[in-house]
Amino acid sequence: MLALLPWLVFLHTLSAFTFFLAHGASIAMAFKIRSETNFDRIRGMLDLSSATLGWMFFSFLAMGLTGIAMPFILKIWNKGWVWASIVLMVIVFIRMAFMNDKRYKHLRRLVGLPYMIGGKEFPPEPPASQSDVETHLKKLRIEELVVVGYVIPMIVLWLMVFKPF
Ligand code: HEM
Repeated sequence: MLALLPWLVFLHTLSAFTFFLAHGASIAMAFKIRSETNFDRIRGMLDLSSATLGWMFFSFLAMGLTGIAMPFILKIWNKGWVWASIVLMVIVFIRMAFMNDKRYKHLRRLVGLPYMIGGKEFPPEPPASQSDVETHLKKLRIEELVVVGYVIPMIVLWLMVFKPF
């Protein structure tokens, strides 16, 4: 089984950078869309972002599965850093999904795109007014996204490298 380890490390790292490459479109969208006022451009950015979500989910799953396989081979389920990393990544994933319902999926609805809330698909509705969309855009702060999606994974990376407990 130990012979599998280099392959798992390789696939775990490969899926991590595939994940961030795929999610880059959503991250760029989150920064840029706040200053947008044109509905067509807002729709374009939202569509580009959602077109990458399939790869994002797939690579996140691959990253999680390869990560979970390694403690079985190394027999290190008694290490705190392993459990702390898993719990933190689950928190990141759940928090992201909840945040998305209220922010970007709601924005899709406001600009007349098909949208999904709570896993249920809804058809496009007539677009909201310019001022409603601008009010919603002003509420799209990215500080929480950066803490949840970047600072917490950075802590997980630190745990994996330094294995402090
Ligand atoms: C390891 C880190 C991250 C994980 C695991 C993660 C996970 C996710 C997941 C699962 C979704 C989909 C939610 C859904 O469809 O309901 C999502 C969407 C999103 N994430 Fe992340 N994310 C991470 C990092 C980031 C960062 C750093 C940012 C921006 C600073 C970000 C911005 C977004 C945005 C804007 C969406 C909405 C995309 C859309 O609906 O088009 N994420 N993320």
